[in-house]
Amino acid sequence: MKNHPLVKEILFSKEEIETRTKQLAKEIESYYKSKNVNENTVILIGLLKGCIPFMADFIKYFDHECQTEYMVVSSYLGGTKTTGEPKINLDLNISIKDKHVLIIEDIIDSGITLKYVKNYISFKGAKEVKVVTLLDKPEGRTVKIDADWSGFVIKHEFVIGYGLDYDERLRNLPYIAVCDVDKLKVWKW
Ligand code: IMP
Ligand code: MG
Repeated sequence: MKNHPLVKEILFSKEEIETRTKQLAKEIESYYKSKNVNENTVILIGLLKGCIPFMADFIKYFDHECQTEYMVVSSYLGGTKTTGEPKINLDLNISIKDKHVLIIEDIIDSGITLKYVKNYISFKGAKEVKVVTLLDKPEGRTVKIDADWSGFVIKHEFVIGYGLDYDERLRNLPYIAVCDVDKLKVWKW
């Protein structure tokens, strides 16, 4: 398959992402097993839409009783920079009171989205809130928050593929790549 023309550089192939995701799933599974977390008390909350490919891989390797839930929280509004105040567009459909929650995120940049979601989930009475992210851009952080587990730490560049979008597109690329933002300025879809 030919690389998409908006790709500047491929950072991680599908195989590298799957291998790393399997490691994360096993590590996190051991964490919950070591804590003797009861059946059905781990609630995996995927942050749509970016979490889809990562979460789909993750749950295949996560051998522990769990329930899956999703939230849509937007803060980007289509561009390449965070706009500030996040907004919940799809809320939880189950009670998470006294549950162990694992948030599954595609990428942490400023940290604003994650901080907001983490506070929200704590406010709903979760017993514990942990976070796994596929990618982390620590240089972009404007609020103090970190994931408990992260797949890959990357530079402060705009990346696409494997769930990550530019303007709702390119989520289907089977790799993670740095986006050629100069080309984007004159790009016609
Ligand atoms: P934050 O609130 O700045 O941490 O941004 C988190 C959200 O912004 C992520 O869940 C992504 O949806 C989006 N995002 C952050 N960086 C990128 C990127 O490089 N490419 C695509 N989406 C991104
Ligand atoms: Mg996005």
